[in-house]
Amino acid sequence: MIAHLHQRPRRLRTSEAIRSMVRETHLRPEDLISPMFVINGSGIAEPINSMPGVFRLSVDKAVTEAGVAAELGIPAVLLFGIPERKDARGSSARDENEAVQKATAAIKDRYPSLAVITDLCLCEYTDHGHCGVIEKGKILNDETLELLADVAISHARSGADMIAPSDMMDGRVAVIRAALDADSFTETAIMAYAVKYASAFYGPFRDAAGSSPQFGCRRSYQMDPANVREALREVVLDIKEAADIVMTKPALSYLDVTRAVREAVKLPVATYNVSGEYAMVKAAAEKGWLDEEKVVLEQLLSMKRAGADLIITYHAKDAARWLQQ
Ligand code: PBG
Repeated sequence: MIAHLHQRPRRLRTSEAIRSMVRETHLRPEDLISPMFVINGSGIAEPINSMPGVFRLSVDKAVTEAGVAAELGIPAVLLFGIPERKDARGSSARDENEAVQKATAAIKDRYPSLAVITDLCLCEYTDHGHCGVIEKGKILNDETLELLADVAISHARSGADMIAPSDMMDGRVAVIRAALDADSFTETAIMAYAVKYASAFYGPFRDAAGSSPQFGCRRSYQMDPANVREALREVVLDIKEAADIVMTKPALSYLDVTRAVREAVKLPVATYNVSGEYAMVKAAAEKGWLDEEKVVLEQLLSMKRAGADLIITYHAKDAARWLQQ
């Protein structure tokens, strides 16, 4: 006979009713942001091999897809553009006739209550695939800022609610904020990729967007995966520069970073469940090795538990469907 047990945590696990009463974290469709890849043309939905279920969509198809997300209770989409032409300075990024600008305008026109966030970076638009201007093999910070500001204005003009700079140049939030304000876009918010690590988990995205660096790597601008104190420095700087939402990225291998950021700041925190994290689950589920629905919902819940208010995820539509059942 064992000693009498007073403490029995299992009492609060005896039924779903009781479990639901003591549940500490909740996942809702409103927490999710659905990323989309947009291309020029019409009637196009090109599958992306390494990201089953994700497509490169022409503007018309992107509008339909955005409608599906809105219908499911997802409050926002995040747009990435794949341009017609690339050059050394990524000049097509600010072209009002490019896919992102057109898709933004078309989605806002058809679904005004859906928030449209635009990813702001040059890597999809440069022929060398880096996120900034290059001179003698180096990525130039301040020269890149001027280009980013122009791109931000073109996104705001097309109706973006929020701009999400993902380039990791120093000082870009301040420069983008100043440019937006100077053009009277004082209400356009900035969701800063404040803490973006140089991660191998972006592999499938670079296939999808054709944005792999043609030489070298991104370690001179994206963060070292070993560092967390530095993440807080990045966050503090972006907030001083007037970021409205700060993001950590990737999500799963960096839950500790999200927790640290959550504890350090009062702003909303977003985390990006990136392409490689998505691809791993999809591959295992295809083989029948994992229960996709259960694994995805558990992963998304872990990001909320770590302190994220918002989750950018390619699973957004599936997760919203599962949550509604
Ligand atoms: C552009 C950008 C990248 C991602 C988001 N914005 C790629 C990169 O930095 O190489 C990655 C998203 C994902 O993997 O899902 N700079």
